[in-house]
Amino acid sequence: MFLDKLTKLLNDAFRPKPKYITVTPVTGSGPAQALPSANEPPANLPAHVAIIMDGNGRWATSRGLPRSAGHAAGTEALRDIIRASDDWGIEALSLYAFSTENWSRSKEEVQALMGLLLKYFNSEIDELDEKHVKITILGDVDGMPEPQRTALIDAMERTKDNTGLKLNIALNYGGRAELTRAARLLAEQVKAGELEPEDIDEELFGEQLYTAGSPDVDLLIRTSGELRTSNFLPWQLVYAEMVFDDCYWPDFDRAHYLKCLRTYAARDRRFGGVKASAPEAKPEAEAETEPAIKPETEPATDRNNEEAEP
Ligand code: FPP
Repeated sequence: MFLDKLTKLLNDAFRPKPKYITVTPVTGSGPAQALPSANEPPANLPAHVAIIMDGNGRWATSRGLPRSAGHAAGTEALRDIIRASDDWGIEALSLYAFSTENWSRSKEEVQALMGLLLKYFNSEIDELDEKHVKITILGDVDGMPEPQRTALIDAMERTKDNTGLKLNIALNYGGRAELTRAARLLAEQVKAGELEPEDIDEELFGEQLYTAGSPDVDLLIRTSGELRTSNFLPWQLVYAEMVFDDCYWPDFDRAHYLKCLRTYAARDRRFGGVKASAPEAKPEAEAETEPAIKPETEPATDRNNEEAEP
């Protein structure tokens, strides 16, 4: 009897433990999840991911469907990529949903996109708010039709104090228009005597942009194989790593997203500086006698470092 008990105790103690890795979202509010490692994002995540969701039309056409079907499928992809960003603790996600140039598309297509937009906000706003997602619209909201304008303003107002994922959706957006607007806002402050021209620096300029409060973009993803930035976040992308995925946007899922994040994680970012491990760096023994590594030999992490790439 005693021997039986002892055997059971020993068996229990030495039974191999199931291998689960617990991923606790950093800013995401979802519950901690047990995920197999293949579904785990890399440790050094980008703080700010921007995505040009391209290829909805071609996805639909290749299936003999109307372009609007591609946008509907694209909205489903977008829904899950937003959830994944929240689950994985991405700080900011900026999505290019409708540019100032997109108004030139057919009336049917623009209407379909506006309908999907409204449907998305009506169906998702409760969940996004519960997850503490802060919604910001990048672009000229006043130029949006009713009732989309009201829905967008309500969503921003309702979530403005949220501290979770910063979800930036570019609508009626143009990068040059954003920069022009920022210059105008500063000029107005100078004209009103609230600001001296010499007070204008990069930080103050950045504060006039729609993305004020979000860090610079670390990773830009574009789907559908196109290799352009298309007037998207020209100021914010200056040091972004770019990853291009050939798939059409409706096919972009968590597996594709993880691949992009891993590609990003493997990149060597120098921000115009040099790595401490580069040949110019001091030998270890000499470095030890130094009180501190001088800033010039540190790997650059300062996004404002203006030095040109070697
Ligand atoms: C680009 O594909 C995609 C767009 C212009 C619209 C993106 C919109 C969504 C994903 C859904 C609606 C957004 C929200 C926020 C609910 P394309 O039409 O240019 O594709 P193509 O290059 O193959 O023609």
